[in-house]
Amino acid sequence: MSRLAAPAVVGVVGAGTMGAGIAQVAALGGHPVRLLDAAPGRASAAVDQVGAALDRLVGRGRIDTARAAAARAGLRAAESVDDLAPCALVIEAVAEVLDVKRDLLAAVEDVVAADCVLATNTSSLSVTGLAAAMRHPDRLVGLHFFNPAPVMRLVEVVRGDLTDPDVVTEAAELMTAWGKTPVQVRCSPGFVVNRVARPFYGEAMRLLERGVDAATIDAVLREGGGFPMGPLELADLIGQDINLATTRSVWEQSGRDRRFEPVDVQVALVAEGALGRKTGRGFYDHDDDDGAAPAPRGTAAPSPTVPARVRVRGDWGPWAPLWDRVRRGGVVVDDGGDRAGEPVAEVDGGVVVPTDGRRAAEHARRLGVPVVVLDLVGDAGTAERWAVTASDDGASPVLTQAVGLLQAAGAQASVLPDVAGLLVARTVALLVDEACDVVARGVASADDVDTAMRLGAGHPRGPLEWGDRIGPARVAALLDALAPVDARYRVSAALQDAVHAGRSLRER
Ligand SMILES: NC(=O)c1ccc[n+]([C@@H]2O[C@H](COP(=O)([O-])OP(=O)(O)OC[C@H]3O[C@@H](n4cnc5c(N)ncnc54)[C@H](O)[C@@H]3O)[C@@H](O)[C@H]2O)c1
Repeated sequence: MSRLAAPAVVGVVGAGTMGAGIAQVAALGGHPVRLLDAAPGRASAAVDQVGAALDRLVGRGRIDTARAAAARAGLRAAESVDDLAPCALVIEAVAEVLDVKRDLLAAVEDVVAADCVLATNTSSLSVTGLAAAMRHPDRLVGLHFFNPAPVMRLVEVVRGDLTDPDVVTEAAELMTAWGKTPVQVRCSPGFVVNRVARPFYGEAMRLLERGVDAATIDAVLREGGGFPMGPLELADLIGQDINLATTRSVWEQSGRDRRFEPVDVQVALVAEGALGRKTGRGFYDHDDDDGAAPAPRGTAAPSPTVPARVRVRGDWGPWAPLWDRVRRGGVVVDDGGDRAGEPVAEVDGGVVVPTDGRRAAEHARRLGVPVVVLDLVGDAGTAERWAVTASDDGASPVLTQAVGLLQAAGAQASVLPDVAGLLVARTVALLVDEACDVVARGVASADDVDTAMRLGAGHPRGPLEWGDRIGPARVAALLDALAPVDARYRVSAALQDAVHAGRSLRER
């Protein structure tokens, strides 16, 4: 049996948001838990807070009274680091400051046994860097819990360069025993979730800078992309300062790679102190917030004209289920059995195409007719909203018909300016590419990356599974088309390799 298995004593240092949650999880896992905080009274307040949380779980029928009582009885506030001496595992969740964590780890090492495992809940510091100052650096592992720790199933188990592989295995086993889903991650900037998720926020903020309102951006990603929350409302919830700090950390550690560069609109919010919900204002005004998702405005679609007939040609790939919906909506969809080549839907006076990373104006020049471009969605069979853009004003009859086709399919349209790759497409393409890069660099396995993004970031599916659904070649072509727009769009060597080898993104 592992030295970490219950009833081994677990120490948690830092009784703030994360430490209190982690202590609750460990106590429910059957461990005696000692909770320590530098601020007087903070640890005992956290013990009371966990007690109240356990009572709520009993009230909701999630755990029985005996289990809550046992967890509560095993949890106590520690007076000093010396109280951690009997621990088999000490998890630190103190402030995200390198020297604070280093000093604390050194102090813990002074009192615990030689085989005690130390873990850090850091979100952005290097586990290898933290271990470097330790006497036994091989015993430090990252255990990156997500907020709220008792609820979120994912834990990134982070292996520093010096971490003993057995410690990683035992820590991962322990997380499973605690009811968590561990993924194994090699120490690298942002680990998996915080790194791969950067474009989710970055692309939305850049579109906001183009004048599209926050509610529309969030609605397109939620109701079209299938994400549980839009990136802007989520950043308001997390806190703009926390979100920006994560971006900065990944950006700095990656040698200021353009892909992770902070976006001006967020930098300005943080400078103004508009940090999101906690200050009452961020991308949204929360003063009279009723908790409901804000309604999209500003880019309302023109009144729809539902065409009687549409002629659909070519390979519509992940967009194809839209045409079944349009057909069910009463429009004659004439696809003539032609499902190869460039996808085009002909309406009166122009065409509708799915985004391939080129702007509508480019398509119009090339095809010689007004063009409406449809964004990607998470699932064309069920999506409730599509972002669309039109090549020019002359396209408005085409636009009203495109909106009409979406209405026939039971979906709404949000009209965006003519930006390359619209919103969901460019966001998802970057998520897929980043995930490929992470796997190719040996940071985590493909399965673990997909699991991490589903459970840690709440994405509707893992980026690699998503890339396979869209088609790796289509994702690469989209990024290639976007490359002239900005240096953050590029096809990673890993994605190129998969395309050339014709293999799935989930096999290596
Ligand atoms: N909040 C999140 O969403 C989140 C998610 C994952 C990881 N993390 C990481 O977890 C850690 C803690 O974050 P948090 O949000 O719980 O912070 P917090 O500010 O809520 O809590 C930190 C606690 O640590 C205590 N502390 C500071 N220095 C100490 C020391 N030397 N010894 C003992 N106690 C000390 C503080 O008094 C405070 O109670 C950070 O490393 C953070 O990056 C946070």
